[in-house]
Amino acid sequence: MPSQPSAYVSDTAPERGALRPARSWLHSDAPSRSLNGLWRFRLSPTASVAEDFAAEGFDDSGWDHIPVPSHWVLQGDGAYGRPIYTNVQFPFPIDPPHVPDENPTGDYRRHFEVPADWSEAERVVLRFDGVESLFKVWVNGDEIGSASGSRLAHEFDVTSSVRPGDNVVAVRVHQWSAASYVEDQDQWWLPGIFRDVTVIARPVGGIEDVWLRTGFDNGRGQVEAEITADAAAFPVTLRLPELGIEQVWATAADVAPLEVDDVEPWSAEQPRLYDVTVSTAAESIAMRVGFRTVEIRGDRFLVNGRRVVFHGMNRHETHPERGRVFDEEHAREDLARMKRFNVNAIRTSHYPPHPRLLDLADELGFWVILECDLETHGFGDLDWVGNPSDDPAWREAYLDRIRRTVERDKNHPSIVIWSLGNEAGTGSNLAAMSAWVHARDTGRPVHYEGDHAGEYTDVYSRMYSSVLETEQIGTDGSRAPLLNCTPAQGARQRTKPFLLCEYAHAMGNGPGALDQYEALVHEHPRLHGGFIWEWRDHGILTTTPDGTPFYAYGGDFGEVVHDGNFVMDGMLLSNDVPTPSLHEYKAVVQPVRFTFDGDEVAIANLRHSADMSDLRFRWRVEHDGTLVESGDMEVPVVAAGESARVPLPRIAVTQDAETWLTIDAVLAAETAWAHAGHVIATAQLDRSPRRPVPAVRRETDWRRSDGTLTLGIAEFVDGSLVSLAGRAVAGPRLELFRAPTDNDEGATQEVEESDASLSGVSNAELWRRDGLDRLTTRRLSVERTADALRTIAKVSAANSALSVIVESVWSLVGDELELRVEIEPSRGWLTVWPRIGIRFDLPDGAAPVDGAEWFGLGPLESYPDSIRAARTGRFSSSIRDLSVDYARPQETGHRSQLRQLTLTSAGAEVLRIETFPDTHGRRPGFTLSRHTPQQIAQAGHPFELPDSTTSHLFVDAAQHGLGSRACGPDVWPEFALRPEARTIRLRITAG
Ligand code: GAL
Repeated sequence: MPSQPSAYVSDTAPERGALRPARSWLHSDAPSRSLNGLWRFRLSPTASVAEDFAAEGFDDSGWDHIPVPSHWVLQGDGAYGRPIYTNVQFPFPIDPPHVPDENPTGDYRRHFEVPADWSEAERVVLRFDGVESLFKVWVNGDEIGSASGSRLAHEFDVTSSVRPGDNVVAVRVHQWSAASYVEDQDQWWLPGIFRDVTVIARPVGGIEDVWLRTGFDNGRGQVEAEITADAAAFPVTLRLPELGIEQVWATAADVAPLEVDDVEPWSAEQPRLYDVTVSTAAESIAMRVGFRTVEIRGDRFLVNGRRVVFHGMNRHETHPERGRVFDEEHAREDLARMKRFNVNAIRTSHYPPHPRLLDLADELGFWVILECDLETHGFGDLDWVGNPSDDPAWREAYLDRIRRTVERDKNHPSIVIWSLGNEAGTGSNLAAMSAWVHARDTGRPVHYEGDHAGEYTDVYSRMYSSVLETEQIGTDGSRAPLLNCTPAQGARQRTKPFLLCEYAHAMGNGPGALDQYEALVHEHPRLHGGFIWEWRDHGILTTTPDGTPFYAYGGDFGEVVHDGNFVMDGMLLSNDVPTPSLHEYKAVVQPVRFTFDGDEVAIANLRHSADMSDLRFRWRVEHDGTLVESGDMEVPVVAAGESARVPLPRIAVTQDAETWLTIDAVLAAETAWAHAGHVIATAQLDRSPRRPVPAVRRETDWRRSDGTLTLGIAEFVDGSLVSLAGRAVAGPRLELFRAPTDNDEGATQEVEESDASLSGVSNAELWRRDGLDRLTTRRLSVERTADALRTIAKVSAANSALSVIVESVWSLVGDELELRVEIEPSRGWLTVWPRIGIRFDLPDGAAPVDGAEWFGLGPLESYPDSIRAARTGRFSSSIRDLSVDYARPQETGHRSQLRQLTLTSAGAEVLRIETFPDTHGRRPGFTLSRHTPQQIAQAGHPFELPDSTTSHLFVDAAQHGLGSRACGPDVWPEFALRPEARTIRLRITAG
């Protein structure tokens, strides 16, 4: 058999023999057989191997087996190559539309049975729901066709090649092809047949395609059916039993819109679906319709006449073991988790997901932006020279992609916007896609972020615009320039609804400022919210040579070109564990707002359309974090957009403890995604009486000191602490460093809210330059009185004249030990600081410190610009669980506003620490960790952290914010930590 590999893989429109037009993914009772399962498989290093394997009688008994669906690079323990991760970069030479001869090529074969009665079928169709990236198909030795469009469905007519009984299908898949240039999404390159393969008998008189377009207006629903079937297939019957509808259309010409009374609308909050069947004598199709009308009125995006606010996530299909192979159970749990965290929208970044995902979105309730499989980001680095988006040679490929996208998923009520793709520059092919969508579907607007000037899209969309710029987009009358827009284009963009298709880059520890973005949405109706980048980390589960499991990112598979851990930027870790940022998100977007006012609370319903009849309200009172009283709160049913004032319960306030009232809005009954009692929204009110802070005792008779000294539970040798309550302790030492977060390492130019002199240099780089990670100490003095010890030290780094003076005063107050540390920077520090804190080292000894109980903010870590999920209360945790396992180890575990802390060992109290607020009322936070920031900063993966024999306690007067600078704005000035003098004051007692 001839082979012409190079010509074929470089074809921009390699679609041959596939059925057109594309059609919906339907639940039909027509016979079909899944070809999922084990196939014979062979991998070749080039595309030029002979095609003789496609012959019917070819002997494949020496080949391996591989599961379909799967990616070959995730099978066979490396025998079939390894995954490659790049963001923008192409992992092959940029030579469009050509790809290298080194082009991994997978040949697949399997037998399948065709039932005898399929010979009565009108057609036999072979369907591929996803193959990356280019493939060719043979049945019983006949070449059937070829296709590309990895995350799109392709169907082939194989009627004349199949026969009853045994058949052989052969598929050749090339990892690289011309299509790779337009599938340059930020994700792993994962070749193979990774979605279902099905062989389908299309009945004579069947329904080729059906589209039920629905609408909703004032309690009335509309159904406009488009039925694609032969004339002989009629009559066609549409049944909607729940509403008593049975509509028979005798001929195609009779098909007419239906008006339906008394329907309930579909929304993401109340995803009301109605079962419908559409049938002929030969075939019946089961559908679930939702009634809703999508519309843009002026600068508002409305569904059923009401403004939509997207609390969305960018969702990739990614799984640590399966890659992009769909697993319905896992996907359903993932979506249910989104609902539990108050997420109401999904952008299917950056391609259509497995079709079942949209059934789940319809059912559980999400506003969906459905995105086409298209990205050419790598051309951006070439100033978009040669970008396929503006090259007529690619026009047909672009149109093919968008047609396949829209046609496959057009029936889903959850899809409210079509997106042309992502980061593909701009050009006439994108405009052509948009024109095609507008002509085909008048019921949904078109989105594409790269259309900055708004030439062919209906909504204004941006990614990572700063808080300031987003505010200027939302503000009526603002003339602030918009990205890549002339003033006139900017004015045009401001007439449209705005959304952030990506914001708040959730890489590592962060992002900060979620609440600032959310506040804008409530101030400026043109702003319709946005989609977090992104839902989950893309780590791939693998092992070190010694068998330690870990989640791999770019470079871990020896890639020549890669983008490191930029693929680990989710609100969920690779192992499904929600990060603190997801909890923060949940709190920030909670759909119920509480505003305390005297003895009342105003409770506002911020939802799109659902009232609050599904919620119950509970309250509780805690004294210093200990529950003293609780009850239910009577709250009237509040309609969406309304609010009600409710009296607060009369609560017991005590003089000697903090009194906090907490109100939770919880689900009254179980839903498809959460149990009854699940907390939707929370608010806290501080009812504590003011309590004076005891004055610092003044010591006067200081004299020089050396040798040993005992102050209550503390022992000192030559001015240095050596033990507390009989256990070895070292410290306190000044700590200004934190293991840089991914945002600390970010060097984006977008620092308009902070210091322009920092542009292009990361904060972490500046910290290393200043030597914050390698501070040294010079003792200036040690003095004592009868019951106090004072040391003064100068802390600075090699080759730096900058310093910090640290004065530590230990004293006995009654039988309690007090420590006061004054931290005083020299002049001349220019950068922000990661933290201002002190560190104690507690070697393991016989009873390692392995846990903490505290009264302060918790239960999870918090930072100045990510603190909304934290509540005041009493919490406990093992030392292990105080840290988050970010894919690349970094700063983690800071608990803010500490009042009391007990360090524990196997549950027994070791030391108790009480904090005092400083003169501004600020309390320190704490971190308890098995590693120092210096150790953490050295590790690329959790398994690289050294074994530890010491627990480290950090008490921080302050921490720098998190920001979003790994991809987006730096820390907002208010939350940036400038070098400044701070005081830390503690009382320490034995446990
Ligand atoms: C965007 C892009 C995403 C992702 C993100 C950074 O520019 O659309 O796919 O790369 O940046 O993680």
